[in-house]
Amino acid sequence: MALKDVLIDELRDLYSAENQLVKSLPKLAKGSRNPELKALFTAHLEETKCQVLRLKQVFEILGKKPTGEHCNGMEGVIEEGADALEKGEEGASFDSGIIGAALRTEHYEIAGYTAAIAMTKVLGLDDVTGLLTETLDEETGAAAKILAAGQPILEAAAGEPEEEESPKTGKEKYSEKKSKEDEKKAASALRQRAS
Ligand SMILES: [Fe+2]
Repeated sequence: MALKDVLIDELRDLYSAENQLVKSLPKLAKGSRNPELKALFTAHLEETKCQVLRLKQVFEILGKKPTGEHCNGMEGVIEEGADALEKGEEGASFDSGIIGAALRTEHYEIAGYTAAIAMTKVLGLDDVTGLLTETLDEETGAAAKILAAGQPILEAAAGEPEEEESPKTGKEKYSEKKSKEDEKKAASALRQRAS
């Protein structure tokens, strides 16, 4: 396996991630309560559609097909966003959860494109580097805009009352159980660190 093969895998992963976002960004736009956030998600959806086309262009240059990898990471990150959308809260607290979810998706993409660009540079694929850099700049810009629009929302949410403990759903109980397992698996390594 050569670096070019690793790159193709990375790019297929990104292609799947972008396609998954084309499907999920409208849900974030529809779900968020703040009009500025809604507008940002809608604008980034249009950008994302162009990013899918840009990746197709990259695959054409490389003479490969874009499909072949499902991005499990993005599926997980989107799943976390779906959890935020399911929360019953109203107003700023609800939108704060959405901001967290949206930033996760953007930074996941930023990591993917950063790695892919590092590879295309080593391989001397200048035209591909150029195309991927356009997308990376858009992702970085989207994250910055979400964070800027999010600031007053987080400040408003800080003034909202803390919630009462409510009975957990089946999904929340499962998530709690898994988080305890995560803690347990790390425990022995952490004990070594402490001693
Ligand atoms: Fe994207």
